[in-house]
Amino acid sequence: METLKLKADKKGIEIAAEILKNGGVVAIPTETVYGLAANCFDEAAVKKIFEAKGRPQDNPLIVHISDMEMLGVVARKVPEIALRCAEKFWRGPFTMILPKTDKVGDCISPNLDTVAVRMPQNPVALEIIRQSGVPLAAPSANTSGSPSPTSPYHVEADLDGKIDAIVYSDECAVGVESTVVTFCENPPRLLRPGGITPEQLKEIIPDIVIDKAVLSESEKGELVASPGMKYKHYAPKTESFLVEGDSDAFVGLVNSKENCVAICFKEDTPKITIPTLCYGDGEDESSLAHSVFKALREVDEMGAKEVYIHAPSKRGIGLAVYNRLLRASGFKVITL
Ligand code: TXA
Ligand code: MG
Repeated sequence: METLKLKADKKGIEIAAEILKNGGVVAIPTETVYGLAANCFDEAAVKKIFEAKGRPQDNPLIVHISDMEMLGVVARKVPEIALRCAEKFWRGPFTMILPKTDKVGDCISPNLDTVAVRMPQNPVALEIIRQSGVPLAAPSANTSGSPSPTSPYHVEADLDGKIDAIVYSDECAVGVESTVVTFCENPPRLLRPGGITPEQLKEIIPDIVIDKAVLSESEKGELVASPGMKYKHYAPKTESFLVEGDSDAFVGLVNSKENCVAICFKEDTPKITIPTLCYGDGEDESSLAHSVFKALREVDEMGAKEVYIHAPSKRGIGLAVYNRLLRASGFKVITL
């Protein structure tokens, strides 16, 4: 199949919406990562998402809306506290798990009576949803298991020839996926850290529970609240290790390695003698979030035996970056 290359302008947005209305799948920019969108009420279209990505069938999708009216179409009940979060964090990198209406089929959330909903902030995404006239199901627009796409060229590398179109826009501002919180229990529980930080959440939900899957590996066969958390994820092909320690300790370790690469902070770079990929400033977690997936993609081009990644702090959006790197490295952590 030929994948149409669309600009993120008026014409491109119109064509993208038309394709979506006709049952196609289109990669669209959002502020977190690029998403692979389809009409959430069109089972055949949603099936194409799973096929293009090679996504496990039991992993449910996030439904993207452009206004509060659409929320009522997919969610059966919205608790007061969820509404307050929507007011504060929408439009933005925030996803709520809520009881679903009958309109949301099994293809969106198989074997669950819940649905994940997000209203993105990116104006191109919002306009595409609005013109499509329906909520759009959209997982990240990558091959399942590989690092999430934060530029249209990452989407192209994974999905060219497998989807109807790609909307080419800027690099994603946030760089890690949305924060996922379930409101189907009391108190609400954080299932996936993301663009909205735990500190921000606690201002509205002081007693929010942090799911243990955020910082640990689930046991084989264990029931997980967010099925996506159980898969090996975001992983480069190069064998990866997450390294906790200060700059000098990190530099000491990597400089003793041969045929290896370091994914490191700006402040580490001048002291390192092996090839490096810098993913931001260690004191600025937002900069690390912005570039982490790009670094994980680029490392495979360097042909190294192993990669050592300097772990970020778990402060603010750092928790989301740490969570992705834990999975990228298959939970192999070296503490110095
Ligand atoms: O920022 C984002 O959220 C991006 C952009 C494209 O919006 N999307 C994204 O989708 O990251 P995806 O499919 O890669 O991740 C969705 C996560 C998965 O971990 C999935 O298991 C969880 O949300 N999820 C979806 N529906 C759920 C539900 N009903 N109950 C529990 N977890 C759910
Ligand atoms: Mg994903």
